[in-house]
Amino acid sequence: MGREDQPPTPRDPVAFCNIRCRVQVKNLITMGEKHSKPKPHVDCGNFPFLNDNNTVQLIKEAHTFFILRGLPGSGKSTIGSKISETYQASIACAFADPLGISPMVEEAESSDSWYAKVDEKIQEGLKEMRKVIVVDDNHHNAERLTYLIDLARDNDYIVLIVTPKTEWKDNCEMLAKKNQWKLSVKQLDTIKQGFQEHIIPYYFGWFLLRKSAKEMREKAEGFLNLLSSNDEFLEEFRTNVQWHSEEEFNIQEYFQKRPSVLHCTTKFCGYGTVPDCELYSSSKAVAENYGKAFTLNVTALFVTPRTVGARVLLDTDQKLLWPRKELCEDGSDSEEKTDLPFGSRSHITLACAPGVKSLQTGLDLLKILKLMKAGNKPEQQLETAEGLLCCYGEGRWIVDLTKPVEVKTLFSGFYPKKKPTTESEGN
Ligand code: A2P
Repeated sequence: MGREDQPPTPRDPVAFCNIRCRVQVKNLITMGEKHSKPKPHVDCGNFPFLNDNNTVQLIKEAHTFFILRGLPGSGKSTIGSKISETYQASIACAFADPLGISPMVEEAESSDSWYAKVDEKIQEGLKEMRKVIVVDDNHHNAERLTYLIDLARDNDYIVLIVTPKTEWKDNCEMLAKKNQWKLSVKQLDTIKQGFQEHIIPYYFGWFLLRKSAKEMREKAEGFLNLLSSNDEFLEEFRTNVQWHSEEEFNIQEYFQKRPSVLHCTTKFCGYGTVPDCELYSSSKAVAENYGKAFTLNVTALFVTPRTVGARVLLDTDQKLLWPRKELCEDGSDSEEKTDLPFGSRSHITLACAPGVKSLQTGLDLLKILKLMKAGNKPEQQLETAEGLLCCYGEGRWIVDLTKPVEVKTLFSGFYPKKKPTTESEGN
């Protein structure tokens, strides 16, 4: 047997995984190509992006960046193959063919140059604006993972981090029998120790597809233009805001903080720092719906001296993803406290005034709904092209849309480690 036919015998399994990474570049399949050799059938688990027709159709319209993660032998490549089969026309892949491994690559190339080649492949996919990009590696290296996540988000892709659901995914004895690299139980166990299977994002939510995000941004612009041309609105609103400029009040300039990622937050996790986020993150609802398509129903637009938002009315399936306890920043349970129906806070932040955090949008919506529920009559009502615009005092205005808007989304997490920025801050 020539050297190239022999399985590698690593001294250090983690380093070995890097060898494996470097080997992968030799086998990157080209855009749209399938795996050269079919693998034996492995049931890698039930994923909406493979098995739910609605989701498959939506992903064909979206821009999705799949990051496959898991221990060697856990079934990542099977998922990768299935994704390629499902999205043949629009995919760019960077994953390994398990055969044809050359350990010689280890001596010839540094890990940096390996990653440079993988990244080149990913960049090609981004440049060609492929609808689906898949990267298959163990992805146990946090730095590398963060790099990929940021790259995807910077290019306006929705990120899905996918871990196999096979029964043996973390059973080193089983993995030792299944992994193509002939890693021993001990070696796998060492890798496993450094492998945090469950990654808790900054927040979970429904992420708008580019087309829906564009539509919602235009809706927000139209709403602000409509408000700025209404003297009665301006008269009331102007008395409730601080405008330091010499220039005449300009509502577009006032709401200069626009979110770079349009989404409807379900659960804010702060990368695992929020109490009970682990429970939510590992819940059945999240496991079953991660990567699934949802159409959200936007029923109202509202503005306050702090925020501009879109109210989202959740259906029964969507409510399964709404956290049982919605905590306010001060730790109080906001929805229960206000005695409003479950999921009332659901919204999309469209803009904020300078210095206002986006979490304020949900609190502003709850306050308006609370005033409405308490039987407060609107202080003013103005007919507009969007519907009846009602004022609930102190610059709080809401319009129930005569034509609700349906927005297409994918349920996922927001993972970037770098501080999310707003468009006005240069994003
Ligand atoms: P929202 O869902 O109202 O837009 P930030 O921009 O402050 O880093 O927050 C990122 C996202 O997480 C925002 O979308 C924000 O609000 C939401 N968020 C931030 N903090 C909280 C919190 N304490 N509770 C609920 N949602 C939060």
